[in-house]
Amino acid sequence: MRRILIVNGPNLNLTGRREPEIYGTRTMDDIIADTRAAMDGSAEIDYFQSNSEGAIIDRLHAAGFGAVDGIVLNAGAYTHTSLAIADAIAAIATPVVEVHMSRVAAREPIRRQSLIGPVCRGTIAGFGPDVYRLACHAILALA
Ligand code: DQA
Repeated sequence: MRRILIVNGPNLNLTGRREPEIYGTRTMDDIIADTRAAMDGSAEIDYFQSNSEGAIIDRLHAAGFGAVDGIVLNAGAYTHTSLAIADAIAAIATPVVEVHMSRVAAREPIRRQSLIGPVCRGTIAGFGPDVYRLACHAILALA
């Protein structure tokens, strides 16, 4: 059984209540449950969320050398600011897929820049909560 870790960064714990016109009304618990169900037994999904940059880096280190087959990362606003998270992704061996629920390419200029994009295996953005399921399938499709 393949194993995937989903890591969410700051403010994503408020999904469902936070700016619903951008991020929708489903809670992250609902979204993770839907994503697990969509795996249909083909992968086990671990879930981690933190509002702290260092905790996200520690979790990437812990998962990044064989503990899981792939990591789905929504780094939230750290996407646009954190060279430290980019370095952590570059440092680990496990492929990381960057996700964003909103279509960041169509938002404010700062959100169009991702410091983590260049070190991720790929990016999925703009499909709302479905980005988690799509990224898990992308990991399963990797050789
Ligand atoms: C986000 C987009 C980021 O710009 C923002 O800071 C978030 C959420 C998304 O999922 O669309 O917190 O990563």
